[in-house]
Amino acid sequence: MTTERTRVAIVGAGPAGLVLSHLLAEEGIESVILDSRSREEIEGTIRAGILEQGAAELLATIGGTSRVHTTGERHEGIGLHFASPAGDGEAHRIDFQALTGRSVWLYPQHEVLIDLIAARLGAGQDLRFGTTVDRVEGVETDRPRVLGTTAEGEPFELEAEFVVGADGSRSAVRPAVTGPSREGGYFREYPFAWFGILCEAPPSSAELIYSNSPHGFALISQRSPTVQRMYFQCDPHDDPHAISEAEIWDVLQSRTPGVELREGPIFQRDVLRFRSFVSHELRRGRAALVGDAAHTVPPTGAKGMNLAIADVILLSRALSELLLGANGGSERGIDAYAAAASQRIWNAQHFSWWMTSLLHLTPDASDFDRLRQLGELRSVVESEAGSRYLAEAYTGWPYRTEL
Ligand code: PHB
Repeated sequence: MTTERTRVAIVGAGPAGLVLSHLLAEEGIESVILDSRSREEIEGTIRAGILEQGAAELLATIGGTSRVHTTGERHEGIGLHFASPAGDGEAHRIDFQALTGRSVWLYPQHEVLIDLIAARLGAGQDLRFGTTVDRVEGVETDRPRVLGTTAEGEPFELEAEFVVGADGSRSAVRPAVTGPSREGGYFREYPFAWFGILCEAPPSSAELIYSNSPHGFALISQRSPTVQRMYFQCDPHDDPHAISEAEIWDVLQSRTPGVELREGPIFQRDVLRFRSFVSHELRRGRAALVGDAAHTVPPTGAKGMNLAIADVILLSRALSELLLGANGGSERGIDAYAAAASQRIWNAQHFSWWMTSLLHLTPDASDFDRLRQLGELRSVVESEAGSRYLAEAYTGWPYRTEL
């Protein structure tokens, strides 16, 4: 087995790993990205689609291939609908522009990845698909190593000055960062999931609609003028294929009173379980975690991809300090990374948990719980201060760039 060398070994070619490689390259720091999946798999996996204004602005600067501001759609608000047990539906709008002067962009994650992969390959990035990482060793030394199997089935060893785990919730890097005794993290599971569909139909609404109905939550989202994405709250154990298309439309219609849904053939369905998670450790020695490897959020606040981008903005600063200074640079920034990244992570954890608890009905909810939730929804829509918190969090807090 031959040992190769690079400056930063990035495990995972998702938004976090790809954006990080770009930010490092801008500083003249070479990296290698490894991902176990094929390019087709990465570019074809359906994920969520909301980008904070700051994330969209950053992506637009990468490699000249970004279509976020051309194919993506600017959204200046969302609909927030709810109904009392008596069935009186209320439709409100949270006006992001009026409340914050900011917007979000609807641009699905797989499109982001198509753009980023083209940009990074075009810039000469060493990006290896089909490469499995088994483990990371030596993170307490200044030459950590990534060990695994190449696309050709050969064992490999990649020695680096720093290793980054950007490889999602089942990260192969995380055990080296958390250590066996602290494996796992701060964790919360929810007693419901989302049933998601993609259908061929025109949009039912110009903006996203988050609806808390007496029958449970639904979200009307979009993908394009001809493809729509919609979700409804379901049991985490539901089989996505056990229900007919007509039944799916009945559920969606019953949970969005007052909205006329434009129906069409459903060509994909899935059940998304969700949980809140933050790794106990985000960095150890010469390794750090970013994106879903470090944390996962429920999808209600649309924060997943956005938080990953915020992580790597901070980490790239810390790595520049560490790797570019004379005599090996300063560890000050990397020592500050975990605490600095944690602040936004926990703000986003709170927001995602709050949006989730505001909009979903738990199976054991009492009448008190339901009426209290309606009171909370009214406190949001009837108060500018209440609406503004939602708008600020949804469109994205300013990036912290100082460590
Ligand atoms: C989506 O379009 O997939 C989507 C949008 C907003 C969310 C979650 C998912 O909060």
